Amino acid sequence: MEQRIVLVTGSNRGIGLATVKELLIKGYKVILTARKAADGLRAQSKLQEFGDVYFHTLDVADPDSVEQIKAYVEKEFGRLDILINNAGINYDSWHTASNADLNEVEETFRTNLIGAWRMAQTFLPMMVKQKYGRIVNVSSGAGSFNEMGGGTPGYSISKASLNALTIKLAVDVKGKNILVNAVCPGWVRTDMGGLAAPRSPKKGAETIIWAAELPDKSFTGKFFRDMKEIHW
Ligand SMILES: NC(=O)c1ccc[n+]([C@@H]2O[C@H](COP(=O)([O-])OP(=O)(O)OC[C@H]3O[C@@H](n4cnc5c(N)ncnc54)[C@H](OP(=O)(O)O)[C@@H]3O)[C@@H](O)[C@H]2O)c1
Repeated sequence: MEQRIVLVTGSNRGIGLATVKELLIKGYKVILTARKAADGLRAQSKLQEFGDVYFHTLDVADPDSVEQIKAYVEKEFGRLDILINNAGINYDSWHTASNADLNEVEETFRTNLIGAWRMAQTFLPMMVKQKYGRIVNVSSGAGSFNEMGGGTPGYSISKASLNALTIKLAVDVKGKNILVNAVCPGWVRTDMGGLAAPRSPKKGAETIIWAAELPDKSFTGKFFRDMKEIHW
């Protein structure tokens, strides 16, 4: 079979970058994406020794940028097999729901929810046509109603919404060999997670890759951490 083609959003650093590296090692063709070309090209050149890594700029919060990457993917590959919605921002630990700056909340939603939503809407038609697709939404335990406490209001509610989107999309494409799942990577040492986090980016990428590789007729519309289902 031809190599599967994967696109990872926000993959110039952190968990996204580690996900690209591990996928390359496994033999996938991977499209690394970044908001800034210089960051993306730097990341691409670091990963070139591991396999077929392509680069295109992408800001998931910008509809024109999403249109541009769609055109690139169609022209360069003619299809997309796996979409990893990893881009995420603003772990707003400085706010509570009662004092959150709602402009900041809107900005958070534009990337964490609408960005992933727009990417899914953009690439699902290709997946439906080819009767194969995997979408992995990189969520967080902070977005789980089961685990949710106070704090990080914009971030947590954006991830809870991303979880809801995961269920809705999974239902929409049921029976079409497209699996849509959400994953919590755990607490990971990145710019967002900070230095105290116990997990490496490689460890954070583990369940994301597992969900990207699920076999046909497998889980869809579920939420996982460490390859095990967790409560929404
Ligand atoms: N780290 C953790 O402990 C943890 C825990 C649970 C969930 N997560 C989730 O895991 C994912 C990756 O997190 P991380 O820790 O690797 O974060 P990170 O180190 O802060 O990296 C975030 C990445 O997202 C990109 N990004 C931000 N806004 C974007 C946009 N509008 N369009 C495209 N890319 C955008 C950033 O690009 P720039 O370099 O241009 O800013 C960067 O590449 C996020 O969804 C996060 O919520 C992380």
